[in-house]
Amino acid sequence: MQGMGHFMKDIIEELEQRRAVARLGGGQKRIDAQHARGKLTARERIELLLDEGSFEEFDMYVEHRCTDFGMETQKIPGDGVVTGWGTINGRVVYLFAKDFTVFGGSLSRTHAEKINKVQDMALRNRAPIIGVFDAGGARIQEGVDALGGYGEVFWRNVQASGVIPQISIIMGPCAGGDVYSPAMTDFIFMVKDTSYMFVTGPDVVKTVTNEEVTAEELGGASVHTAKSSIADGAYENDVELLLQIRRLMDFLPSSNISDVPVLPTRDRADRVEMSLDTLIPDNPNQPYDMTELIHKVVDEGDFFEIQEAFAGNIVTGFARMEGHTVGIVANQPMVLAGVLDSDASRKAARFVRFCDCYSIPIVTFVDVPGFLPGTAQEYGGLIKHGAKLLYAYSEATVPLVSVITRKAYGGAYDVMASKHIRADINYAWPSAEIAVMGPKGAAEILYRSELGNEKKIAKRITEYEDRFANPFIAAERGYIDEVIQPHNTRKRVTRALKMLASKKVENPWKKHGNIPL
Ligand code: HXC
Repeated sequence: MQGMGHFMKDIIEELEQRRAVARLGGGQKRIDAQHARGKLTARERIELLLDEGSFEEFDMYVEHRCTDFGMETQKIPGDGVVTGWGTINGRVVYLFAKDFTVFGGSLSRTHAEKINKVQDMALRNRAPIIGVFDAGGARIQEGVDALGGYGEVFWRNVQASGVIPQISIIMGPCAGGDVYSPAMTDFIFMVKDTSYMFVTGPDVVKTVTNEEVTAEELGGASVHTAKSSIADGAYENDVELLLQIRRLMDFLPSSNISDVPVLPTRDRADRVEMSLDTLIPDNPNQPYDMTELIHKVVDEGDFFEIQEAFAGNIVTGFARMEGHTVGIVANQPMVLAGVLDSDASRKAARFVRFCDCYSIPIVTFVDVPGFLPGTAQEYGGLIKHGAKLLYAYSEATVPLVSVITRKAYGGAYDVMASKHIRADINYAWPSAEIAVMGPKGAAEILYRSELGNEKKIAKRITEYEDRFANPFIAAERGYIDEVIQPHNTRKRVTRALKMLASKKVENPWKKHGNIPL
């Protein structure tokens, strides 16, 4: 028996040794190089992302099966990706984190199988999955096995889309095959200066197009948050980003069959905010900051903005009302007067659809002078992109509460969660103006013959303003349910959301709709 005890002790020690080897990934030298670049290792990232001590790793001893190009002599346990599950503020998440120290985090067949396993578990068990990317794309030595592995990951991304939240975090290179999995997840976040995403890198770009471009210029965080809108946000370093992801996850339900999380708050639902009564400037063409309204209305001013650096004329993000998560969509008069253009429409449409997938009620603040005119917009497909937002709101079955603060002109009035596309509660501030177009444009079209006669036109403008520059015509028709005091906005919106808590409507059965992509 004593011998047996020794034997147990030996194999327990061996287990610890094997674990220690696996944890070292590609070795101390490569870990040091990772740190020297200002990056954390895969396991350090996981430690920061998850609740302390909650990580359980799977498949730590998995090795690749490649025998080409001398790979049979180069095997590293784990094979370039760390996978498993843990908790974030007590709630289960699955995750995989590419380990750049092992074959540059490149994807082999077995590496893909490890990711597939956690993807399958996350979907089966209805919990979010988070991927951390820092890798060199397909494992070149594996050829089609690597390509097939990517396909298996992509297919699972699509199966899980709309069922469980999928989040991608880019913390280093992310190229080739690695970009398409994030692109099919719900949100992508990047680290400034140390991460980049592109389908083909600067060298290939030079060969094919003769264009000279750096990795940062081609696909850094500054490109993807502000220009391409591929990324939903960027943060200064690994630590800050991981902490922000913990914050984001607190807003999100675990799946499309779970309720939104509730975070108890001391912020009273009936809090009056007198300063909102003077938020709207006297001059209708003077802007004001819509985010001020958002911060003053939501619980404790806590607002997690999505795509802050892109299409600033519309603001999207998560907040809470009486502890329950809500999605906020708001025109921003500070940028392009809050006009709807292609970018703003696409940005908001995607956000509305995310909220609708996960039963997150949407609060819409409206101050919109219409759609942006011009050839640039029309050639760029404004009709199709504007239609995306119209489509997204129209198909949404979550509670929809909207508040028109000032302008709601033209087609944009219809699009921005109007009663006509089945918003549940439509409030307007007394300062609201609901009309086909602004008074000046209207007068100039209706009284074209009087153009040139300043006095006459000014009178026409006043007439038009008197008639339409108020919320009461819409209210007389029931398109606006109530004209509310700005200072009571929080109270009214929280009450409306409470009233709508068990809303249940269903769209007609269909395989899926045909959103204008
Ligand atoms: C195998 C790879 C690799 C890869 C990097 N490594 N990429 N091994 N397959 N794709 C290895 C390197 O050999 C090196 O090993 C280690 O990872 C670190 O790489 P370095 O080049 O030394 O690092 P760095 O200078 O930081 O450059 C990182 C990099 C570069 C920019 C990512 O490695 C690179 O360009 N890699 C190739 C990217 C690429 O073209 N991938 C294929 C994309 S096509 P040692 O042992 O020296 O540490 C693709 C198609 C899929 O993905 C399509 C599916 C739809």
